[in-house]
Amino acid sequence: MQNLSIVIIILCILVYIGYYIEQYKDFTYDINDPEILHKFESLYIQRLNGGNIPLQTVFNSVTRIGNNSGVVLYRNGPLQVQLWLADPESKISEHTHPNVDSYEVYFGGQMYFKKDGKLILSESDIYELPDRKSSVLFSNVFIHTDTQHSGYSGKIGGAFLSIQHWKNGILPSTIDNDWSGDLLDEAHLITSS
Ligand SMILES: [Fe+2]
Repeated sequence: MQNLSIVIIILCILVYIGYYIEQYKDFTYDINDPEILHKFESLYIQRLNGGNIPLQTVFNSVTRIGNNSGVVLYRNGPLQVQLWLADPESKISEHTHPNVDSYEVYFGGQMYFKKDGKLILSESDIYELPDRKSSVLFSNVFIHTDTQHSGYSGKIGGAFLSIQHWKNGILPSTIDNDWSGDLLDEAHLITSS
C-alpha cells in the first residue's frame, strides 16, 4: 500500500513536470502544418492567461493619452500590465503615480527613460544585437509611488510594458489616471486622487 502511494506521488510529480515544460517551452512548429496558425494562436492566448485579460474591452482597456496609446494586457485584483506605444519623438513629462508602484519594462523601439531626473535608458544603450534582438529587451526600472520619472521616444517610436501594483484600495484603471505632474494633453483626466 505504501509502495502504491509512492508510485502515485512520483507519477503526479512527473505529470506536473511535463505540464510545466509544455507550458513554458518555446512554441515548436512545422512550417508545412496547415494548422500552424491555429495552434500558435491557441497556445499564445493560453499563455497570456486569458482569464485575467479584461474581457470588457470596449471600456477601461484601451487608452490614448498625449502621444501614447495603451492597452491592458493583464488585470487581477490590484495587479495590472499595460502595453504602451509611444509615437515617434514624443515626450512623457516628469510625474509620479501616488498610488501605484510599477516596473517600466523596455519592450521595443527607441524608448528612453529618466528616473529622478537621471537618464537611465538612453540612445547609446539601445542597439541591435547580432540575433536582431534589442540590447535592452526587458530591461526594467522600478518606480515607487514617490519616484519622479519621465520618458521620450526616438524617430521610430518606442514601446514599454508598465507592470503595476495599485495601492491604497484603488482598483486598476489606466495608469495616467493616477498622476501627479504636468498633464499629457487637454483631455488628461485624473480620477484616482
Ligand atoms: Fe509613469
